[in-house]
Amino acid sequence: MEIRSEKTAAAGMETGALIVLEFEGQPRRAGFEEFYDAGEITGKPGETTVIHRPAGYRAARVVLAGAGKPEKFQSADLRKLVGTTVRILKGKSVKNVALEIPAQFCTARFVSAAVEGALLGDFECDQLKSDRSGTKFLDSFTVLAEHDGLEAAAAEGRILGEAQNFARELANEPPNRLTPTVLAERARAMASQCGLACEILDQDRMRELGMGALLAVAMGSAEPPAMIILRYTPEQPKGGSAHLGLIGKGVTFDTGGISIKPAEGMEKMKFDMAGAAGVIGAMQAIAKLKPGIPVTGIVPTVENMPGGRAQRPGDIVTTLSGKTVEVLNTDAEGRMILADALTYAGRIGCTHLVDAATLTGAVVVALGTINTGVFSNNEELAGRWMSAGATEGEKMWRMPLDDDYKELLKSNVADLHNIGGRYGGAITAAVFLKEFADPAPWVHLDIAGTAWLDDAKPFLAKGPTGTPLRSFVRLALDWS
Ligand code: BES
Ligand code: ZN
Ligand code: ZN
Repeated sequence: MEIRSEKTAAAGMETGALIVLEFEGQPRRAGFEEFYDAGEITGKPGETTVIHRPAGYRAARVVLAGAGKPEKFQSADLRKLVGTTVRILKGKSVKNVALEIPAQFCTARFVSAAVEGALLGDFECDQLKSDRSGTKFLDSFTVLAEHDGLEAAAAEGRILGEAQNFARELANEPPNRLTPTVLAERARAMASQCGLACEILDQDRMRELGMGALLAVAMGSAEPPAMIILRYTPEQPKGGSAHLGLIGKGVTFDTGGISIKPAEGMEKMKFDMAGAAGVIGAMQAIAKLKPGIPVTGIVPTVENMPGGRAQRPGDIVTTLSGKTVEVLNTDAEGRMILADALTYAGRIGCTHLVDAATLTGAVVVALGTINTGVFSNNEELAGRWMSAGATEGEKMWRMPLDDDYKELLKSNVADLHNIGGRYGGAITAAVFLKEFADPAPWVHLDIAGTAWLDDAKPFLAKGPTGTPLRSFVRLALDWS
């Protein structure tokens, strides 16, 4: 989709559809009186009224998009509103859409969000259908603003929207097509296109280094594991000595291993690399938006399978950190691969760590599908993260991480075991990770509930969401 920004008066814009925001209580627009009288246009959030060839406009359609109360209207609302409208319009085979941004919302944040909303709303998950003739996309989206100089904001929105769709595409790939090796190839191709340094550790290298936890998870699969490392280095560093490490869980398929999962719904476990997709997509956007601090993306990627060579419950493995872990459940594999990735991130010089992982079913029980669970050992970094999330409209909820929970991970025969009992499963998983992240300031994001939509939203197709990509990028951009 082509993205444009223009300083054209909306009425003069020749386009398939012109979206205008309709706020509750605003003066009525001339020419639409009968629709206000009929109660069709009220400005309530989510309302969309399509009027064909209204007088005074050159657009084929004007869409009055209900935006609610202006004092409550945020960039996140605009992102959703544009997504919703785009999905309605492309369903009607409209190809070119323009949006009038009212003067009081002519800021970089709103312009960027509008463009993101259009790109995110345009995305569909049916790449592998042989007949896609019924799948419709926009050709162009134009932002009409009163000010000059919003091109940069529109460009930023395009970079963020495209990166998020790239992450969604990766997370949507079926597990036979997207193996750890293929994920590494996709990351490498992106890196060479965007000018990032890329290094991929193979199984032999991981053995030399001693990544016993990651290798143990990989044992059951015929597919070799990989550790993907993507490096962004700013030309003029501006963030002091900080070096951000973004770590994403890259389990391309999670059967549970010998502690096998039930058949029902297992197919969804192709998205167990959504954290990895978010990191790889974020690195693409970071390469283009060039924040002032160095950022390294680290993706441990494996397939978790049962088999004659698979790890067993009862195995004790030595992690890269030197700590030993008794594997009580092979389905708690995410924390094993992340343990080695977190240690590795510290060793290669990352000073601040943020990981994203579809880590536990328990976080879905706790927070549902709306909020990502946020765990941290450092208030300052957690504060930065929470504001990045708020800025980007990705909902985050702080969860506890007291040392008291460590009791639940005590093993008789090793330093710790890999599950924490019946209750508080998202917390005990985080407490396990903390053992490997300390002493670096670190944030852990459990995205098991938020990385996938089981039902479509009006503004987003069913499937992977791409979260928390935008917040990753925002954290880096707003660092200094
Ligand atoms: N990938 C799963 C977590 C998951 C569950 C993600 C549901 C998305 C939806 C993870 O590897 C896992 O299996 N976790 C176990 C941990 C348990 C064995 C302690 C879980 O949550 O049941
Ligand atoms: Zn699992
Ligand atoms: Zn998993």
